[in-house]
Amino acid sequence: MFTLGILTISDKGWRGEREDQSGMAIREILTSLDARVVKYDVVPDEREVISQRLREWVDDVGIDLIVTTGGTGLSPRDVTPEATLDVVERIAPGFAEAMRAESLKKTPTAILSRGVAGIRGGSLIINLPGSPKAVRQCLEVILPALPHAMEVLKGEAVECAKEEGA
Ligand code: MTE
Repeated sequence: MFTLGILTISDKGWRGEREDQSGMAIREILTSLDARVVKYDVVPDEREVISQRLREWVDDVGIDLIVTTGGTGLSPRDVTPEATLDVVERIAPGFAEAMRAESLKKTPTAILSRGVAGIRGGSLIINLPGSPKAVRQCLEVILPALPHAMEVLKGEAVECAKEEGA
């Protein structure tokens, strides 16, 4: 079991003008992995607001995994990657690399997501794009690696090779 924070980043969602289907998709998919949702919030596309919330969830709550959705694109208001890089201590590029590469096979616009992933303390933070379809497609790519990632982060994994059945 690991604890999960879901942070939806959307001006419209924050103003109550859009139902948060993407946050709901994250919840639905990740609870199938024995994740317990301990924090959920919808914030506007403001770099300081996003980074502040991420810091609180890591430093004060100690959440194992934080998944964000939205604000990763090219529009001037899209600042989720910058806010994430403001708080992480080490990057974990494989998640975003894999999500973009696999998504690109399905949709050419996958190239537009600038999402990043990284580690702060004992927490992994992963950016997903904003649409529910993108959330589902991206989570499908990283889902098989997540249980082991969480074990390693929490110091519970014995050896990586054993995960591969070697
Ligand atoms: N990735 C996947 N797998 N599927 C998608 O439909 N949409 C793209 C991209 N990544 C998409 C995707 C689009 S259209 C945009 S604009 C960017 O993600 C950024 O989305 P965001 O600004 O909502 O985070």
